[in-house]
Amino acid sequence: MSAPIDATETSAWAELESHRASFAPDLRTWFADDPDRVERLSLPLAELHVDLSKNLVTDDILASLVRLAEQTGVAQHYAAMLAGEHINTSEDRAVLHTALRRPPGASPALSVDGQPIDDDVQKVLAEMDAFAERVRTGDWRGITGKKVETVVNIGIGGSDLGPYMIFEALKPYADAGIAARFVSNIDPADLALKTAGLDPETTLFIVASKTFTTLETLTNARMARDWLWAGLEASGIITDDESDRANAVAHHFVAVSTALDKVEAFGIDPTNAFGFWDWVGGRYSVDSAIGLSLVITLGPDAFRGLLAGFHAVDEHVAHTPLAQNVPVVMGLLNVWYTNFLGAQTHAVLPYAQQLHRFAAYLQQLTMESNGKSVRWDGSPVTTDTGEVFWGEPGTNGQHAFYQLIHQGTRLIPADFIAFVNPAFPTQAEGQDVHALFLANFLAQTKALAFGKTAEEVEAEGTTGALVAARTFAGNRPTTSIFAPALTPKVLGELIALYEHITFTQGLIWGVNSFDQWGVELGKQLAMQIAPALEGDASAIDAQDASTRSLLDYYREHRTQ
Ligand code: F6P
Repeated sequence: MSAPIDATETSAWAELESHRASFAPDLRTWFADDPDRVERLSLPLAELHVDLSKNLVTDDILASLVRLAEQTGVAQHYAAMLAGEHINTSEDRAVLHTALRRPPGASPALSVDGQPIDDDVQKVLAEMDAFAERVRTGDWRGITGKKVETVVNIGIGGSDLGPYMIFEALKPYADAGIAARFVSNIDPADLALKTAGLDPETTLFIVASKTFTTLETLTNARMARDWLWAGLEASGIITDDESDRANAVAHHFVAVSTALDKVEAFGIDPTNAFGFWDWVGGRYSVDSAIGLSLVITLGPDAFRGLLAGFHAVDEHVAHTPLAQNVPVVMGLLNVWYTNFLGAQTHAVLPYAQQLHRFAAYLQQLTMESNGKSVRWDGSPVTTDTGEVFWGEPGTNGQHAFYQLIHQGTRLIPADFIAFVNPAFPTQAEGQDVHALFLANFLAQTKALAFGKTAEEVEAEGTTGALVAARTFAGNRPTTSIFAPALTPKVLGELIALYEHITFTQGLIWGVNSFDQWGVELGKQLAMQIAPALEGDASAIDAQDASTRSLLDYYREHRTQ
């Protein structure tokens, strides 16, 4: 990769600075004066209808943002990524999660470092399908011949957040009578709570770890193995004999990893392991074998539907001019808010209870990708990077934090996501509850955009100091993403949309959106501090005063 272009030195950046200097957002007037605004700013993206009209932009600002993308080489960098170049420079890797969702036979054929990869991708998908069908039909059985009733995915970060979020979102598609649970935290409470009530004879563990070195995942996998052995021994099904235990693992543990040698060292038969490749980043890996729990519970067709949705958006990104390219435009809007209007956070507000893990998923995707202070050539960044992503499903958020978005002092761009058709029955005593739910989605974006003037408040009979308290300034930017229904394909489209928004922002800022060195230091220190908690005097002495004092507190209060 050539040295990143410094966005702040482009003429487009200067244009945006001058827009900002005279900027006076006025959505009421903009809507009143421009009857075509909504149509012009409503962009189709596969099955998603994306309404950008309530954002704080004019056509001139949008044109400058698109010029910024041109001048920083966004299209060229996309082409480099899609062609398999080593754009993850700090780890010297290609970045090809987009290859995972191409249909069989897609052209041009893709290679990484001279090795063709398309057949490998299809081969693993076929292996996942075949294994999932065995589990779903009961051909794969536990040690006592019982059908699997629950899969427990053990992973963390990208090996947990994607599968967990998607399973929750698409539960109505779980059609094989198989439940899923997700264990991620090294806090022993997580495994204990998630295995509570499960029958070891009908439980299948999937140990999901790209590297198969992650402390949390390997520790949880060991604890899960102990749980399995203890349960089966207590019922007299196995003894503590090594071969009995290995037999139990063979029936109840499979793995997903790029490091199949390490899977074998853990005691899982490599024939029960599903591979992927180092050119798939952890937080971009849900459409690799990391999605095995989804293929088992939701079925191969639903998983293919997800992949088709991802691919539809990849195609859009690759072939749509920048000004109509939805992920690029949304990424540029985020740059406008972050670098020119001072926004620090970004709310994502799905009007779909099933998307209750979506914000958590996006937090890793966006913040692990773009929370960087150096550019990809090691030079310091020249402007703010990253946004704090957060959110909760509506309408719950309305009764928690929306007050601050409506009337607080901070600018918080918000993405609203909603679905026309419900996934569950919606009538209550003749009322369409889903329609009522959607009325809230529409009402919130309207209130945020257009607010309520003091005159309007007074016209309702309010007087005195209450007038100001009841006035809404409006001009709070939102994007509305509307889709016919929360299907696997639509969910794939949504996730890919945010993947590409994230990459666009990373490109403008010149950061490597595909490494994550910032999580390393804490991991290293945890390994150094662990012996101190066990009482190792030299490990205790090596700590700073605050850590030593916290260790003292721990030793004084630990009772079991
Ligand atoms: O948080 C750091 C990280 O490396 C993530 O990028 C990754 O998704 C997660 O840890 C889990 O890693 P692995 O799949 O290798 O266990």
